Amino acid sequence: MWRPPRSGFLSATSHPDDSFKMEWDLSAQESFSASPRFRVNKKSLRALRLCANPLRGSGLAIPHMNVTIPYTLAEAERIGAAIGAALMPGDVVLLSGDLGAGKTTLARAMLKARGLAGEAPSPTFAIVQPYAPPEVDLAVAHVDLYRIEEEDELIELGLDDYLYDGALLIEWPERLGTQGWPDALSLTISGSGGTRILTAAVPASWGSRWPLR
Ligand SMILES: Nc1ncnc2c1ncn2[C@@H]1O[C@H](COP(=O)(O)OP(=O)(O)O)[C@@H](O)[C@H]1O
Ligand SMILES: [Mg+2]
Repeated sequence: MWRPPRSGFLSATSHPDDSFKMEWDLSAQESFSASPRFRVNKKSLRALRLCANPLRGSGLAIPHMNVTIPYTLAEAERIGAAIGAALMPGDVVLLSGDLGAGKTTLARAMLKARGLAGEAPSPTFAIVQPYAPPEVDLAVAHVDLYRIEEEDELIELGLDDYLYDGALLIEWPERLGTQGWPDALSLTISGSGGTRILTAAVPASWGSRWPLR
């Protein structure tokens, strides 16, 4: 059985023939914890790569494209559903925008697309609201960091743990401070009233999956 090293950066490259190459860059200092019984498959490799990423907080730019979409409340459902349907384990979606911008509205539509019945509550007070199968078909943790005041409080939330087999939807990602995920899909909502504008910074890892042009 393969066991992940205790520290370093795992880079996994998938090839069209379904093989992949694994490399560890041991120059990276960041460590990660993983169960010794962790089984290696394509999905878990992706999660490990995200969890142990040494680019975290380094400010290094990851190639991405920017997409700007004006949308109404009715269209929010469709936009959220399209992004929600494309989610994979290991994905982080950052939802930025002022109070009332429409972050929870989009997150709700994503959760609905993953099978959640009824309206997801806003996680403002719970901070982390996890959903798991069978109520959804992909584990998703809906997070609202509005009430986080110190970066230290983030450690207790253990957000990385959700990425082993699920996705994170994070409102108020500004509270992450220097923490972050370079591969995150960053959605910023501006405007007010009936005119909202979604700006998506789509990372390279989302390139072919991004559903809105
Ligand atoms: N595209 C939109 N156009 C008009 N109103 C919207 C749009 N998206 C959301 N809203 C409305 O804005 C209000 C705040 O939305 P919410 O998602 O709770 O904001 P946030 O989570 O950013 O604080 C809600 O009443 C919601 O229905
Ligand atoms: Mg909200």
